[in-house]
Amino acid sequence: MREKIVAANWKMNKDLTEGLQLVSDLVESLKGKKIACEVIMAPPFIHLSGAAERLKETDIVLAAQNIAKEENGAFTGEVSAQMIASTGAKCVIIGHSERRAYYGENGAVLHEKLLRAISEGLRPIFCVGEQLNEREAGKHFDVVSNQLTEAFNAIGADKIAQMIIAYEPVWAIGTGKTASPEIAEEMHAHIRSFLKERYGESVAQKMPILYGGSCNGSNAVSLFSQPNIDGGLIGGASLAVEKFMPIIEAWDQVHK
Ligand code: 13P
Repeated sequence: MREKIVAANWKMNKDLTEGLQLVSDLVESLKGKKIACEVIMAPPFIHLSGAAERLKETDIVLAAQNIAKEENGAFTGEVSAQMIASTGAKCVIIGHSERRAYYGENGAVLHEKLLRAISEGLRPIFCVGEQLNEREAGKHFDVVSNQLTEAFNAIGADKIAQMIIAYEPVWAIGTGKTASPEIAEEMHAHIRSFLKERYGESVAQKMPILYGGSCNGSNAVSLFSQPNIDGGLIGGASLAVEKFMPIIEAWDQVHK
């Protein structure tokens, strides 16, 4: 059986006090509860070491939202994979559509970031997804295949097998317009068959593929019930524990 995951992407939200409060709220809410999925939390960089301290002795996995493609040195404002790993973070989001759109991160850059993460032992959560006009033009499957092809490039199947993929249709992010479970499932199945073709059946079957884009407590059960949807990457609804917990608990109602 594949891993089931609910991951929080806080994006650029929460100052130091608010962030540590949210970590504590989540730790308290999960205390003593038997939950049916893994929980990953990706706060801004400033929270990583404080959150790592608070998350000790919990099963919540810490992630960063970005890494530098360079190893170290004179790159003002950047944060290296090694620095992130030293905080205790285990994962890193790479290829989010906001990074692609606002910071010009293309396939070649993302490929370098993937290699850097892997070499530091950080597990990439690699994001793909089409824009609305690309879907309307019927190009969505090709767009996603190309994003995977460019960023994965010559990375071997053994490394690919360690990743998590997140499908986040750009038109669904922060818009309240969730992809229907059928539309999301269709793309997840496409991604899995891409993986099977390139990297073999066992990589394809093992890969957790998360859905992201206006996922919330009301739609999580129907999304997570789809055969190829292994959880969610949650933006807005991860910023308050009363909105995030129902998404984690959605897994209690999914039997597959
Ligand atoms: P929302 O859940 O706010 O739509 O954001 C999704 C996302 O981009 C997670 O990475």
